[in-house]
Amino acid sequence: MNLKELFIHHLDKNLPKIESFHPFFNEALAMILKAGGKHFRAQLLLSVVQSKQPQLLQEALDAALALEFIHTYSLIHDDLPAMDNADFRRNCPTLHKAYDETTAILVGDALNTEAFLVLSRMNLKDEIKIKLIKTLAFNAGINGMIIGQAMDCFFENKKLNLEELEFLHTHKTAKLIAAALKMGCEISQLNDEKSEEIYKLGLKLGLIFQINDDIIDTTMTQEQSGKPTHKDTHKNSFVNLLGLNKALKIKEDLLKECEKNLQQLDKELAQMIQKLIILYL
Ligand code: IPE
Ligand code: IPE
Ligand code: MG
Ligand code: MG
Ligand code: MG
Repeated sequence: MNLKELFIHHLDKNLPKIESFHPFFNEALAMILKAGGKHFRAQLLLSVVQSKQPQLLQEALDAALALEFIHTYSLIHDDLPAMDNADFRRNCPTLHKAYDETTAILVGDALNTEAFLVLSRMNLKDEIKIKLIKTLAFNAGINGMIIGQAMDCFFENKKLNLEELEFLHTHKTAKLIAAALKMGCEISQLNDEKSEEIYKLGLKLGLIFQINDDIIDTTMTQEQSGKPTHKDTHKNSFVNLLGLNKALKIKEDLLKECEKNLQQLDKELAQMIQKLIILYL
């Protein structure tokens, strides 16, 4: 099994569920998790562990699961009418369409908290678990995704400059992607210097990921992307502010920089990250 298959198998076996007399809450909890997705962040985390401490791969699956829970919660809330108001996600109706807004909000809340429960239960030294919890909370919370999402929504219809746009994208998307690599470093007990270098590479990869997502919005159909497209017209996206060609050029330039940074990493990890770049960027 490759890392993606291994992760999907682990996810399927560890879908969150709760015994209660609610008629559909477990189905709702699992719906967007089961709907697919690239599992880019999970694969980044697992790639670091596979290349550095392969004997910990089985254990690392839970950290990847926690990351996927956080990422999926962010998408469920991102699609709500109060945010991007989107009807499809991962080729499925969004939760608030399939059920209702109450369910979508609460499933998002559940996946957010469940992520930290999963990390706290891992079979690793407390010291490492605390590092993982801190890294995920820092990058998914107000220091990362939350402020990014808040600015994304607040500045709709208000044009930002390029520096502000980069700040927005780095927070809403890149920090969680960088956290994925950093959590892999923490499980593998790499030193702080190496871990920081890999985190910085993650920030760059994450920025490219969101620029590419902005490009997907203008260049793809809903059938191709699994989510509604041509929805970013009032948003601060790279394509909106700079035009498609300039966005593509910035993406290519950043990819070249990443390739240089990858040469500083050991060969196996560099190759694994390179493969993910080719697949998803
Ligand atoms: C979508 O993330 C939201 C962004 C941060 C761009 P993904 O493109 O990773 O979504 P899935 O997990 O593959 O559905
Ligand atoms: C979402 O960015 C980033 C998140 C933190 C969820 P987008 O709003 O561009 O993501 P999509 O295009 O809906 O997947
Ligand atoms: Mg959004
Ligand atoms: Mg959106
Ligand atoms: Mg988008």
